[in-house]
This record gives sequence, C-alpha cells and structure tokens, in this order.
Amino acid sequence: MSEPLLRVEDLKKYFPVKRSLLEAFRKKEERYVRAVDGISFEIGRGETLALIGESGCGKTTAGRTILRLIEPTSGRIIFDGTDITPLSQEKLRPFRRRMQIIFQDPYSSLSPRMKIGDAIAHPLLVHGLAEKEEAKEIVLKMLRRVGLTPEEEFYDRYPHHLSGGQRQRVVIARAMVLKPEFVVADEAVSMIDVSMRASILELLESFRKEYNLSQLFITHDIAVGKLIADRIAVMYLGKIVEIGPTEEVLRNPAHPYTLALIQAVPSIVRRKKERKFRITGEVPNAAEIPPGCRFNPRCPFADELCREREPELVEISHNHFVACHHPIG
Ligand SMILES: Nc1ncnc2c1ncn2[C@@H]1O[C@H](COP(=O)(O)OP(=O)(O)OP(=O)(O)O)[C@@H](O)[C@H]1O
Ligand SMILES: [Mg+2]
Repeated sequence: MSEPLLRVEDLKKYFPVKRSLLEAFRKKEERYVRAVDGISFEIGRGETLALIGESGCGKTTAGRTILRLIEPTSGRIIFDGTDITPLSQEKLRPFRRRMQIIFQDPYSSLSPRMKIGDAIAHPLLVHGLAEKEEAKEIVLKMLRRVGLTPEEEFYDRYPHHLSGGQRQRVVIARAMVLKPEFVVADEAVSMIDVSMRASILELLESFRKEYNLSQLFITHDIAVGKLIADRIAVMYLGKIVEIGPTEEVLRNPAHPYTLALIQAVPSIVRRKKERKFRITGEVPNAAEIPPGCRFNPRCPFADELCREREPELVEISHNHFVACHHPIG
C-alpha cells in the first residue's frame, strides 16, 4: 500500500479549565477539558474518512488541530511524509495551501464586506499563485465550476445577496481554488437546507474525483457519513471508539455506541440481527471523563472490567477496529 497522505498519531488537545480566584489561591490543581484525548488514524489519497459523534465529542477540535489552526497538546501529524507538528507558522506556509478547511456556517465564514469574486481570489493572491488579472480568470472559471452562474454577476455580488446554499458554494470554491490535496469539511452541510444538501455533497464529491482529494468529513449525522465516506470513525468524548470501512461499520457495528447512533436513524441500514436498545443520559463533561471505558456510564453492557480498565482499539475484522471490552458480534 502506498504511504497515506495523512497520518495522525496519538493526537491530544487539552484546554485548561479556568480556575476561580479562590481555587487558584488554594492552589487547587489545574483541570483540563480533554477535548481530543489520543486519536490515531490515516487517510489515503483520494479517500474520505467521516468523523462522527455527538455534540462536544471533539470533532471540530480534532479537525482544527490536525490543520495546526490550534496547537496540539501532544501527538504527531504527518502530512505527505513530513511531520508538520513541530513546524513554525512560516515553515507551515507551503502546507497551508495543500490543506484546506470548509466550515459549518456559510454565514460567518465569509466577510460581509468582501465581494464574492475577491473572496475567492484572496487565497490565490496571498499564496502568490496568480496576479490580479489571472486570478480573476481563475475565479470566474471556479464560479462556473461550482454552479454560480452567470459567473460575472456572481463575481461582483456580496454574501448578503446569496442564499445559504450559494454561500456554501462560495466557501467551497475558495477552498478548492488552491487545488488542495486534503480538506477538513466541518459539518459542511449541517446548516444547509435539506433540499440543497445532496447537491453540495455532489459538488464536494466531484472535487474529490478531480483533485484526488483526501477528506476528513466531520458530521454528527451518520446518514451523511454513509453517503460520502469510504471509512467511518466514531468518536466519543475525545476518543475514537470504532473505525472501519463504511459498509462494514454500518452493517456490523461492534461498539454499543455506534449501534445506538445507527439505530437512531431507522432507515439507514437493514440488518439481520436487531438488538434494540437505547443509550440514556448525556455525554459527560469532557473535563470529567469517567475512569475505565469512557462510555461505561451510558452503556447497557458495562460491567466491572469496563469501569476499571480503558479498552484499546483492536482489529476485529479486516481494517475494522473497536475499543470495547464486550464488542457486539
Ligand atoms: N477553545 C476552547 N476552550 C475550552 N474548551 C473548548 C474549546 N474548544 C472546544 N472546547 C471543548 O472541547 C470539547 C469538544 O468540543 P468540539 O467543538 O471539538 O466538539 P464537536 O464534536 O465539534 O461538537 P459539535 O458537534 O457541537 O460541533 C467540548 O467540551 C468543548 O466545550
Ligand atoms: Mg464541531
């Protein structure tokens, strides 16, 4: 197998919890939100990995840390064979062009005072990839490519003239104009009208094919993951609890949490054995991760072992890994 484009090794991002004055005075130990608590995975060239999990489980933090938009606490990020974790911002510059991010909210990710055309041209100028005139040509082509026509008209419009779906097309155009090799798409369709989601996903898919793009596709919606991902990684409280090929994970989920996510979307997959159950309770605070398996307080199958020892990710079938003492099977 060829070297993956991206390799993430035991990546952690802890945020310090602000102590009150009294706590600081009493020298109370500093506490941390363990937003990302040791995740490892690879993404091949042209491959889409969906990162799935409930709100607050650390998906956005993981995506942003991988791009070095926030500094990791520990671990390594290896991009195309280079460990980019220790690189200075200046040394990161050439990598920045090759790695892009598409945010969830197309309303806040565009400057209201910048024309659409200028917004898309901006990264080309910043990275010195084109002069003004040439950049305009490239942007016009890109506007057409993402379906914003007549492109000359869209070039001069401002974001407030556009619908949410159109804005997300602009955001995608701005990321794709640099011909990146890797993109983090963070809930890229969550705020888009359901009627337009499919066409935005198709647009991303067309870029994946054209550029042989690798994607980390962050979503809380396992049904979206099913549509676009080659592999799925399920995250719970800062850790990946299951990872494997999409078909395999959906048909044979091994972690109770994955099964619960799947069962919450009734139409997603028809499976032979149905062991219906519901998980109860809320995701615990990431500053107070329970000992043992972090899912144990919500797991119907938890026993003594689960309360004491944290399970490691182990391979249960080809390329399919689960971190559970009692995997479903
Ligand atoms: N800058 C920060 N400072 C302190 N805590 C943070 C910071 N950013 C995120 N967190 C905390 O880290 C945890 C993970 O947050 P994150 O935004 O990565 O989750 P998420 O999976 O993307 O959630 P959502 O689905 O709601 O977008 C949460 O407990 C959050 O409160
Ligand atoms: Mg998020």
